[in-house]
Amino acid sequence: MYNTEKTKSLQSTTAKWLAQDAGEGMDKNIQPGLEELRDILRFHEYRYYVLNNPLISDFEYDSLYKLLEKFEAEHPEAVTRDSPTQRVGAGLIKDFPKRQHLVPMLSLANSYNEEDLLDWDRKVRELSGLEEVEYCAEPKFDGASISLVYEDDHLERATTRGDGETGDEITANMRLVRSLPLSAAFSQYGMQQIEIRGEVLMNKNNFKKYNDKLAEEGLAPLANPRNAAAGSLRIKDSKEVGRRNLEAFLYHVSYHSGNAETQQLPEPETHAGMLNMLWELGFRSPKQEMKVVKGIKAVLKYIHEFEQQRDDLPYEIDGIVVKVNDLAMQDKLGMTSHHPRWAIAYKFKARQATSKLLGVEFQVGRTGAVTPVAKIAAVQVGGVTVTSISVHNEEYIREKDLKIGDAILIERSGDVIPQIVRSLPDQRTGTEAAIVFPKTCPVCDDELFKPEDEAVWRCVNINCKAQVVERIIHFVSKDAMDIRSFGEANVRRFYDAGFITDVPSIYHITADQLGSLDGFGERSVSNLLEAIEASKKQPLHRLIYGLGIRYVGETTAKALAQAVDNIFDLAKMSEEQLKQLDDVGVKVSKSIYEFFQNEDNVQMLSRLQDSGIVMEAKKQQRSGGTLEGQTFLFTGTLTKFKRSEAEEMVESFGGKILGGVSSKLNFLIVGEDAGSKLEKAKKIPAIKILSEEDFLKMTKT
Ligand code: IVH
Repeated sequence: MYNTEKTKSLQSTTAKWLAQDAGEGMDKNIQPGLEELRDILRFHEYRYYVLNNPLISDFEYDSLYKLLEKFEAEHPEAVTRDSPTQRVGAGLIKDFPKRQHLVPMLSLANSYNEEDLLDWDRKVRELSGLEEVEYCAEPKFDGASISLVYEDDHLERATTRGDGETGDEITANMRLVRSLPLSAAFSQYGMQQIEIRGEVLMNKNNFKKYNDKLAEEGLAPLANPRNAAAGSLRIKDSKEVGRRNLEAFLYHVSYHSGNAETQQLPEPETHAGMLNMLWELGFRSPKQEMKVVKGIKAVLKYIHEFEQQRDDLPYEIDGIVVKVNDLAMQDKLGMTSHHPRWAIAYKFKARQATSKLLGVEFQVGRTGAVTPVAKIAAVQVGGVTVTSISVHNEEYIREKDLKIGDAILIERSGDVIPQIVRSLPDQRTGTEAAIVFPKTCPVCDDELFKPEDEAVWRCVNINCKAQVVERIIHFVSKDAMDIRSFGEANVRRFYDAGFITDVPSIYHITADQLGSLDGFGERSVSNLLEAIEASKKQPLHRLIYGLGIRYVGETTAKALAQAVDNIFDLAKMSEEQLKQLDDVGVKVSKSIYEFFQNEDNVQMLSRLQDSGIVMEAKKQQRSGGTLEGQTFLFTGTLTKFKRSEAEEMVESFGGKILGGVSSKLNFLIVGEDAGSKLEKAKKIPAIKILSEEDFLKMTKT
């Protein structure tokens, strides 16, 4: 798609635009200028979303994108439908009209073992008259299938599979899958109208983040990335689709009609050739994953090798698809009424198993949420033994139709915690019992409450033992303050022994206390005290996360730590100011604000500070004059040095110049008559505002 030469030239164009002098004189020549800017944005989208190998930072991409938005707003007549700004449609989608596929979307015949595959190969050899067949093997992506139609090089339509004949048109949503090009030069191959099939997926990493977010909001997580992808196709708010970071692999050209006049390149004659063509046109096809081999034995080898890598892949696959490589031979073999004869899916062992729901226990979490946990008959799934499994809330239990005594289907995909897929009501005997929710806290017996807009019941007694203990467990946990060998069991033990009563008391545990417990020798006492001591120096984001503020997960905690100098800065911010920060929405800002309004919480922080816990964000030390990792912006008329010299100086010390004021900015250097940038920076407490003199001093220390 982009060779070395083209990549180099696009990079230098990028540098020119980032210096922001490229827009000058564009009024006369608006269209070529805009197209150049669009080209570099498309290139960087491709580097990021298709190759997973970006050449510029998100910030730089955003600033170029904003520049394009600005120019396009000034010249609406010059906007093209494949402009990177045209992915987001206007408003909410009302409905998804039914569309007929150009070619019915058949499914594949399945095979589960070597025997099935050998049988299939025997039939293919018989029908083709070949002694040995050339196959193309590729992953079977586990997502939601879609079909795309491009006409005259533009994405015309995206459709769900539906019943195979017709599906729902979801073009607006698929425009937000950023690895899908809005235009692609099919005309070079003499193709005017083309229908392509592929799979939309959410990669494991994004799936985990998505589930974490649901959990932070008290919602039930999804069982697997396939459900997450499938559930995302028909969302009515395209922007939400954009936020889910879906990806698409395209693996089959089902139809194309020609226009010989535009043809410059030969039409591919093999399936692998088609995957290469799609790749060359900027799509994510399994070009890198596929393998062309002769004979079924070599296919089996590929399957075994690929299955070994299954857990290491960034996305879920549920098998391998084997296709006859020669397209003319595919035509000759044709279809049965259900499946093509030229392809077969080899399915990997399922990561699902059936078990029995024996009973439900109710656990109280650190925020008081009462979570039902199902106890199930021990079963092996995806290599681990499962005996209990969260069933989240009443709505979830209703949705999955769960009763005590039910046979249930459970799944463990990738490294995700096991989930119940559904109950198997066919197997009921009539002895199953409904799951009854308690009215009072199972630990402190206080009455439970459920806010109307929430899914979970809560114990609101903040001194409830369960909550206190869970807050401490969270505080010492690996992703928070990471106090090694403290752990859940020890928290409970120390609490019961009266050594700890709340989070700050952790830092007052004595060697004598620990030594009085069975199994705590001198060595383990000193190890634990050392770990407690070491945790005092943890970076600020771990402390923020460890406080267990509702809706503040690790990502938000990092964004908060980035934005302030000191944890008490957060206490000084209004809800409105908090909302300005990266990764902080309405709900989160309200929750943070309320946390710091609570005098008990502020007092707890003071006590932690008195024990010597680091409360400051670790900004890079200025030793040896290095500005590594720091970001700068100059504004106003500079009198002590030239802007270009100063910027060079920053860069030569390893610092970075940003294009605008945002929470990512560390220092704003202000000359005379500074205007809006200074005003904006004053509203963000994390930005240090320096005079030219201050800046000079800084570069000399
Ligand atoms: S080829 C006419 N290739 O698996 C053949 N399908 O039941 C078109 N799938 O509906 C399908 N990865 O959603 C093909 N590399 C791949 C695939 C793949 C996943 C899905 C697809 C299809 C189902 C087969």
